Amino acid sequence: MGQAQAKPAPGEINKVCPISGKPVDPSITVVYEGKTFAFAADVCREKFNAARENSLYHKLGGKAAIDAAVEAFYVKVLADDRINHFFNDINMNKQRRKQKEFLSAAFGGPIAWTGKEMRTAHANLPGLNETHFNAVAEHLQKTLQDLKVKKELIDQVMAIAASTRNDVLNRPNKAK
Ligand code: HEM
Repeated sequence: MGQAQAKPAPGEINKVCPISGKPVDPSITVVYEGKTFAFAADVCREKFNAARENSLYHKLGGKAAIDAAVEAFYVKVLADDRINHFFNDINMNKQRRKQKEFLSAAFGGPIAWTGKEMRTAHANLPGLNETHFNAVAEHLQKTLQDLKVKKELIDQVMAIAASTRNDVLNRPNKAK
């Protein structure tokens, strides 16, 4: 992929350091996937770089790979009569965008999830149950297999998906 990136306008750069939460020093930046991130200190930039390099997000292939996977995933979901009725009145462009953002953040990508909690997002889906969740998980797994993602990484993705199960199904979380 081409690395030449246009310089962002100053207003487009974050003002709060994503690592420390402190105001940024605009001279301490890194460009990742075409987006400039600013930090409060060098150590924050190093932590950010290390987190990205080690993330499942990066190992899966970053934004392009996750975007492509979510597109293919919803083709399967919408073709499945066990679950497609849940999406009848849903704006699917928005849904695809949100799912890309959610999964990217859950896999350790550079941008935090600012959408709804999973419990709230799925609270108004009457009849949503275990069978539906399993169907969605099945499509996610099959999508990644189709895209020839390594089994080890698919297992990590499926563990993250499974961790949302109680929230998506609005069941109590087990006591720790
Ligand atoms: C791995 C499990 C799942 C994950 C990670 C997930 C993720 C998400 C996300 C990120 C949103 C958008 C939240 C927002 O608007 O901020 C969402 C909404 C939604 N999800 Fe899921 N979901 C999962 C399972 C399911 C299942 C099993 C179904 C039904 C078969 C489902 C149906 C929906 C619907 C219909 C919406 C739109 C709700 C609305 O806009 O009112 N999801 N989900």
